Amino acid sequence: MKIVIVGPGALGLLFYSLLRTGGNEVYLVDKDRQRAEFISCNGINFITVSGKVKRIKHVNITADPEDIPLPELIILTVKSYHTNSALKKIQPLLKENSYILSVQNGLSHVEVMPKYVAPDRILLGITNQGATRVDVNTVRHAGRGDTIIGTYLWDNFFRSHKFLRKLKTSFDKSGINTEIHRDIQSVIWSKLVINVGINALTAITGYKNGRLVENPALREIMHILVEEALAVVNLKKIKLLYPDPQKKVEEVCQQTAENISSMLQDILNNRRTEIDAINGAVIKEGRKLGLNLPYNLCVYKIVKGLEKNIGSRIFRL
Ligand code: PAF
Repeated sequence: MKIVIVGPGALGLLFYSLLRTGGNEVYLVDKDRQRAEFISCNGINFITVSGKVKRIKHVNITADPEDIPLPELIILTVKSYHTNSALKKIQPLLKENSYILSVQNGLSHVEVMPKYVAPDRILLGITNQGATRVDVNTVRHAGRGDTIIGTYLWDNFFRSHKFLRKLKTSFDKSGINTEIHRDIQSVIWSKLVINVGINALTAITGYKNGRLVENPALREIMHILVEEALAVVNLKKIKLLYPDPQKKVEEVCQQTAENISSMLQDILNNRRTEIDAINGAVIKEGRKLGLNLPYNLCVYKIVKGLEKNIGSRIFRL
């Protein structure tokens, strides 16, 4: 399959490496010309789950999307707050009615994508593949997890089913275990609730995911954050993919005990976080329904504060 991946962050590099190894024709688009040239000259170092380093020498990466042949599929892996600018940049690629799949965190992209892409071309998804960017062109595959995809429009599911099947076959062959789901809203919120519980708390404390369940005080806060999100889920009548969300969030902490969450990685690398798309988005949805989420608001504000003064902490995490 001819695929373009937008954004060579941790997930973008991981998907590129896996999909290339699976025999697809894959291209990367980067907004940063210098970085694109660096990766083009130096290739990608892909560290597999078992720790083997595979070098991908010739990487098709460019800062000029108009140079790329029109793909069947575009995958958005940029940070949620870059969705607008990324979609503007890839306008030349959107001409041919390619499908565009987002596997970004949170909710923000769901509002932004229809401004640039015909709604019947939008696919949404989540991925539990673990990716850690070690340096600009090195990515570590931190763990295999499922990827779930579906259509943005409920009534477009059956019309797009043939393509979804093709995509699944191609992803599965590349080691990205993929499921197709009709109720994508339920899929996205199921991941969001987990991120609401884990990400901000790890970013604030500097702990790996596993610590949150071992530490009674943090475990209690994690449960309250999830509880507040569930009030929104219930009012919106969203059916989550798992029956017991509190048990699920604890399981994810245990299964990813040694992970540095994506939000903590951002803080450690002095980058903006996805707090707006995660706790911020749930707070916003809650407000629309007349709900206040005080614990979520509190962690939201702390992470915002951390982002603002990131260089001036007197201790290093
Ligand atoms: O954002 C992340 O880091 C991941 O979604 C999760 C599940 C919290 C594991 O680290």
